[in-house]
Amino acid sequence: MSLNDRNERPIGLARYEWGEEEIAAIREVLASGTLTGGPQTARFESAFAQRHHVEHAVALANGTVALTAIYLALGIGPGDEVIVPSMTFVSSATSIVHCGATPIFAEVDPVTFNLDPVDVGRRISKRTKAILLVHYGGQPADLEALVAMAADAGVWLLEDAAEAHGASFNGRPVGGFGKAAMFSFTPTKNITTGEGGIVTTDDAVLADRIRLLRNHGQVAPYQHASLGFNWRMTEMQAAMGVVQLGRLDAILARKRRNAEWMRSRLGDQHGITLPRVAPGRDHTYMLYTVLVHQNRDAVMGHLQRLGIEARLYFPPAHLQPIFHELKVSLPVTEMLATQMMSVPFHSLLTAEELEVISQAISSGIKSSAHQNLAHDSVQA
Ligand SMILES: Cc1ncc(COP(=O)(O)O)c(C=O)c1O
Repeated sequence: MSLNDRNERPIGLARYEWGEEEIAAIREVLASGTLTGGPQTARFESAFAQRHHVEHAVALANGTVALTAIYLALGIGPGDEVIVPSMTFVSSATSIVHCGATPIFAEVDPVTFNLDPVDVGRRISKRTKAILLVHYGGQPADLEALVAMAADAGVWLLEDAAEAHGASFNGRPVGGFGKAAMFSFTPTKNITTGEGGIVTTDDAVLADRIRLLRNHGQVAPYQHASLGFNWRMTEMQAAMGVVQLGRLDAILARKRRNAEWMRSRLGDQHGITLPRVAPGRDHTYMLYTVLVHQNRDAVMGHLQRLGIEARLYFPPAHLQPIFHELKVSLPVTEMLATQMMSVPFHSLLTAEELEVISQAISSGIKSSAHQNLAHDSVQA
């Protein structure tokens, strides 16, 4: 099937899997009369903890507050610094600001787009309290180096695993490599509860503190021992989460097969670099991000005109207006942001849609190369 043959149905970035099981689970919650703070939340937490080989999981309203809850529970606040990559969703960094601490942006590795341990080493100071790594797009960061570095520096290692449910490093699931980790369940993720987040940790005290923060610091009905928030996940979301978690391994298997197919199609295509998986990592392809060597915006525009929702994930956080005053320059991240392009890669893509996406990438590269030649000859 060629691009011209297909009808004009757009191919969006995010589609989630759901079925009768989710509806049944949510209906059961509605019939139970307990819509928040009940057995489904506990069930989701224990299933998620088990799947990620950790002792505790605490479900929250979303991933951003889950990160802030971790910092608050660890006592990170004004005067403290947290090292974070800039090639990430902005709330990896704004969650640090929400608790009064300062994000220190660091470079990423140009191959995996994950935190560069060497650059992290340069940025550790007396004020550093934690390193927040991000498993970019679902590929685990360099956990071996970063675990060792955090231990040497005497700071906490934290994982932003928002995009990496079920990813593993040397056979071990992410989520348990540092003091705590966060996962998000927005609809772009491999599994979703609409909104939602979860903290995983092996530290029982930390998990209890986060439970208190989540529920107004309430130790008994209307007894508030500490300052807290309403950061609870609803029972409907948790019930959906249990079903979604059951789908995770099939979703990941399908995405990995699709990634192999893309490699068989585009592996020899000049002008782009396909996602590269570092040794020992199991990528979960929440994002499928290629590097377009020249004219990325023209290639991305070509895909968009064909109804394919290609996008830069992410405009670097340190260049956002809210962080201008930090005056940070990160040449590797800024260069990558001119070349990165994420294309739809959800688990429901059909063989036809994959074909259309791969053809569009090839034709986009060819047509932008022609434009270059034409431009060069006009210049000459
Ligand atoms: C890397 C990363 N960090 C943090 C978040 C924030 O999570 P949420 O949208 O659930 O607040 C997201 C996703 O949205 C993300 O992709």
